[in-house]
Amino acid sequence: MNNDKLSSVAKAIVAKHKGVLAADESNPTIKKRFDSIKVESTEENRRRYREILFTTEGIERYVGGVILFDETLRQSTRDGTPFAELLSNRGIFPGIKVDKGAKALALYPEEKIAEGLDGLRERLVEYKQMGAKFAKWRAVIEINERDVPTAFGIRANAHVLARYAALCQELDIVPIVEPEILMDGVHGIERCEIVTSRVLDAVFTELDAHHVLFEGMLLKPNMVIAGMKCARQESVQQVAEATIRCMIRYVPAAVPGIVFLSGGQSAEDATDHLNAINMMGPHPWQVSFSYGRALQAPVLAAWKGQESNMAAAQKTFLKRCQLNGIARDGKYTRAMETTG
Ligand code: 13P
Repeated sequence: MNNDKLSSVAKAIVAKHKGVLAADESNPTIKKRFDSIKVESTEENRRRYREILFTTEGIERYVGGVILFDETLRQSTRDGTPFAELLSNRGIFPGIKVDKGAKALALYPEEKIAEGLDGLRERLVEYKQMGAKFAKWRAVIEINERDVPTAFGIRANAHVLARYAALCQELDIVPIVEPEILMDGVHGIERCEIVTSRVLDAVFTELDAHHVLFEGMLLKPNMVIAGMKCARQESVQQVAEATIRCMIRYVPAAVPGIVFLSGGQSAEDATDHLNAINMMGPHPWQVSFSYGRALQAPVLAAWKGQESNMAAAQKTFLKRCQLNGIARDGKYTRAMETTG
């Protein structure tokens, strides 16, 4: 394990103005996204869509890393350049999603645990040979109106995240550790803050116990926000304050970056929240984005599977990346959505 290499890659991914594009939708998930624009999810359509994203001029100023799905890491541009090579040549680190999805946690009804630890060391060796410099593992935690998540559900997920992170660092691959508390549900922001606190506390306890180098990882948490079905939705400033309060308490300053997931927020809200959080800085860590839907939903809507819409799709994508880059400085305003 090379501590200097791990920490320099982690830092570079969240360099000034930069964040992460999460383009690692599994095939069932990208099918859902394509269904929404009536595009068939064939291997070629998936390849072409990702090619449009990755070849967008100028994104290297705002995108430090791209998370890929296994299939995408094995794909190439039309002229035969592997995507990992294309991204690396543009100064963007290629990464790989390595969990195999959240499954039911046995004997704990309503809770989930991600599979994929068996054989992970060997898979990571292959991904490294293919150019992956970082990885992602997503733990899914639901909040219900009763006792979920349980203390055990949290501990089990934290343990698996730490096992994954240690395996990555053993091979000098930077782990992005993603404990996602879902925004689905009727819970208020207070419940989200309590659960996020319990989860982050458990995750860092397990990471430490597994000897994971905090300097050589990135944390990908949810923001502290009310459930989507909660009648009371806080202001952008209140979300930022609750989120930062929670992060300050539970995320060690040694971690170089926090890259938030968007989790179902609109593109504009996700940018606005990131901006408000950064306005409250400076923080001990870089505070950035690792957005999937909040970067891509407007791009899919512009593309619609039509080659003739490619330029419009790329323009939309560059703008989203740029606005989030500006939000990293706390200088974004909603008015920027309608200019340029
Ligand atoms: P969203 O930003 O759409 O939540 O996706 C981020 C991600 O990678 C979830 O694992």
